[in-house]
Amino acid sequence: MHADAVSIPVDTASAALLAERGLRMAVVDAADQQAWHDWVAADARGFHDKAPSGAFLEDLAGDVPLERAVGVYDETVAEPRIPVATVVSWPAALTVPGGGEVGSWAISGVTVSPTHRRRGIARAMLESELRVAVAGGAPLAILTVSEATIYTRYGFGPATWSTDFTIDARRAGWVGAATPGRVQFVGRDGAMATARTLFEEARRGTVGDVEIVGHRFTRLFGLPSDPEEQRKRRFVRYDDEDGTARGLVIYRLVEDPADFAGFTAEVLQLVATTDDAYRALWRFVLDLDLVGTVKAWLRTVDEPLRWLVRDPRMIRTTELREHLWVRVLDPVAALSARTYGGAGRLGLRIADPLGHADGAFTIESDPSGRAVVTEGEPAEGPLLEVPIDALGSLYLGGASAVALAAAGRLRERAPSDAAVADRLLRSPVPPALMTWF
Ligand SMILES: CC(C)(COP(=O)(O)OP(=O)(O)OC[C@H]1O[C@@H](n2cnc3c(N)ncnc32)[C@H](O)[C@@H]1OP(=O)(O)O)[C@@H](O)C(=O)NCCC(=O)NCCS
Repeated sequence: MHADAVSIPVDTASAALLAERGLRMAVVDAADQQAWHDWVAADARGFHDKAPSGAFLEDLAGDVPLERAVGVYDETVAEPRIPVATVVSWPAALTVPGGGEVGSWAISGVTVSPTHRRRGIARAMLESELRVAVAGGAPLAILTVSEATIYTRYGFGPATWSTDFTIDARRAGWVGAATPGRVQFVGRDGAMATARTLFEEARRGTVGDVEIVGHRFTRLFGLPSDPEEQRKRRFVRYDDEDGTARGLVIYRLVEDPADFAGFTAEVLQLVATTDDAYRALWRFVLDLDLVGTVKAWLRTVDEPLRWLVRDPRMIRTTELREHLWVRVLDPVAALSARTYGGAGRLGLRIADPLGHADGAFTIESDPSGRAVVTEGEPAEGPLLEVPIDALGSLYLGGASAVALAAAGRLRERAPSDAAVADRLLRSPVPPALMTWF
């Protein structure tokens, strides 16, 4: 995708549509601090967040050149500087099956003021974002969602799933092997410096994970604008026997006023690039004195931790919830970027009401899993008819074509075609996104 995609001007089609309704759509000028602040204020209001402080706005200042923020303005309201709708987007690398990555168009901050809702403003913004992503050369658009009912209509499908843990730390027990390195506390600056390379390394090794930059990275360490929260964060690093940093856990402690030995440790991020680091950091957290409960969010579907404790029932999980949503825009580029589960051929007839990915395509993979993807469908052999949102769900190998076929969400040319598709498309390790954006 093009490096300067963030400077693509406003989408004329949506701008014209909104202009007919008396609204002005504009890309926020990165040099106009006031416009940027007003945009952030609207975004915060849209998510029922408190109004941003000056210090918080300073925390975000570094993000301005990295992102393309769009506002929709109504000149007739009492405060016309504040947009009545917001969206922000930027290019971000997404790890795909086989370990490659796709430059994707990450979308966030979608809000429409309660005074202007249900008039098609979100639709105008989302459709414009998809056109901008195409113009920027992104084969995919990605987002995380507040509600799972909003984005299918734009062609997004859920592609990774996650769960939250509540662990009875005293009863879970530990049966994992010992680790040769050491764990140690590090300060915030040291933790951030380590994390910059460590998180990227972990992200490149995790199918479904997305590069994280700007304040979305910094906030894991506590934003300077929230010193109280910042002081609560603890950082523990694992170094292997050669002294190389291989993992980092960020956690905070919440006291139980009735029981000083009953703290809850909240694991905000646990990133490990080796199995040793993963074991050492989880063991450290579960062994903390005065801690009865450990909570952790966005944990993966097949977390090894279940096999490291004596009593896996002591890890209570919330139901699986979809996390990353994927929207394919360029099937040839997107499907060529990932690998497949061996040699095979699969035809796809993609239905995309917005037109970006509509058409027939053939994936032809070799025994190593590398594929050539061409336009046109095979005359015979396995073929799926997939709506664009279902393709997004299949893309990272986290959803089952057999299940989607059983649910009537896709159609097979012959009864076993979905099973063939699963053999090729499923990722051996379920894809996972480890952060929110
Ligand atoms: C979600 C939100 C952006 C929708 O904005 P909007 O301008 O009212 O949406 P639109 O009028 O363009 O509606 C477009 C379509 O989405 C549907 N829709 C809108 N909000 C929806 C919701 N919360 N749940 C399900 N469907 C929704 C509309 O019914 C409409 O459907 P249609 O195209 O089939 O007719 C807005 O309600 C909002 O700001 N919510 C709070 C913040 C939030 O959750 N943002 C999403 C972040 S991921």
